[in-house]
Order: sequence, then structure tokens, then C-alpha cells
Amino acid sequence: MISKYVESASSFAGDIDHLIWLVTVIVGFWFFLAEGVLFYFILRYTAQDGVKGQYITGEDPKQKRWVAWPHYLTLLFDVWIIIAAITVWQHVKQAMPQADSTVRIIAQQWAWTFVHPGPDGKLDTPDDIKLVDELHVEKGKTYHFELQSRDVLHSFSVPVFRLKQDAIPGRTIRGWFKATMAGGFDIQCTEICGIGHALMPARILIENHEDQAAWVMSKSPAAAATGGTP
Ligand code: CUA
Repeated sequence: MISKYVESASSFAGDIDHLIWLVTVIVGFWFFLAEGVLFYFILRYTAQDGVKGQYITGEDPKQKRWVAWPHYLTLLFDVWIIIAAITVWQHVKQAMPQADSTVRIIAQQWAWTFVHPGPDGKLDTPDDIKLVDELHVEKGKTYHFELQSRDVLHSFSVPVFRLKQDAIPGRTIRGWFKATMAGGFDIQCTEICGIGHALMPARILIENHEDQAAWVMSKSPAAAATGGTP
């Protein structure tokens, strides 16, 4: 439902939004109800002349119910939230759908390097396209990413994808996304990584098939020199 009001551009953005909405509604409903009951009781049973206050131990089953039932309900709603969260986590973070392409993302103080596979579709070949602070992907394609860091902890975040993944030095962390809308969007670092943390923005450019193909060709002098098909 939130997706209607906030721009989203990945296949799983709706799942994440739905989960946040679910937690907000469940917690919000019980918050306002509990506060309402609390303030009602404060006003209803406020000190009155001639009425002595009572000392209540809460040992009588009739009184205990006021604690027990909300407790059971809390557990019930917790289970609901946990099942919803695990379902989304499994779909977004555990399962890796088949990739159409793979990009490498390298974080450092304070820039992003994006390695695109180039015309041959493979990483670690001479036609790789390396760009600083600019990631090009094709709409509708499923990408795997290999996230690395050269120095400290960073976090790769694409708000419009609802994607966020920590980068850890010494490790390659794999994940995936599928862009569903063409356009240019923000990438940000969401882990404090030193004095220049706030100066670590980048852009993701989601292109249609033709634009992506034209961009790959324009960035591949090797392919152009050998008369590669346009
Ligand atoms: Cu990199 Cu904050």
C-alpha cells in the first residue's frame, strides 16, 4: 500500500513495503488502544474525596486476566509478524533467482566502483566496464551483485529498490535485484564509514534494452574497433 505513495522500482520493493505496513498497523493499533485505556482509567479513577485507594496484588484470577490476555495476544501478533518477516526474508535474501547478468560493486572511503560485464556478459575479462559512482542496469533483467569493500564497513543501499546490504572488507557478499522501472535513482552508503560517509552518493541508471545495448557499445572501444554488431 505504501508503494502507491513512495516510488519503488524493484520486484521485491512491494514485499518489503507490505511488511513495514503490516508491522506499523499492528503495533499502531495496539499502541493507541493501550494508551487510550490507560488515560481513560487515569481520568475515570482519579482521586476522589472520601474514596480510599485500594492496594491490589493482582493475585486474584479476575485481575490477572488484565495481564494474561494482552500477553497472549502480543505473542499471537508476534508470531504473525515473524512468519510474514521470514517469508519476505526467504524470498529477498535467501533465495537467489537465476541471474541474467552479474555486476561487481566495490565500496571504499569514499566512493563506489561498479564493474559491468561489458559485451561478452562476463566479469573479469578485458571488456569489463568500470565506472565510479554510476551503475547501469537493464529494466526487467535479474542481476546478481558481488559486493566488496576495500577498507571499512559500508552499506550498499538503493532506496527505490528497498535494498540494503552491508559491505564487509575481506568478504564477497552476493545478492540480487530486478529493476522494474526505467530512470535514474539514488544509491547511498548507509553505514558510518568515516568523515566522508555523507559524501558517498552514487546513481543507478535503469535503462530499457535498446538504451542499455547502446550504452554498452559506446563504452566498449574494443568491440567497436573489431566492428562488433551495433
Ligand atoms: Cu561508506 Cu558510509
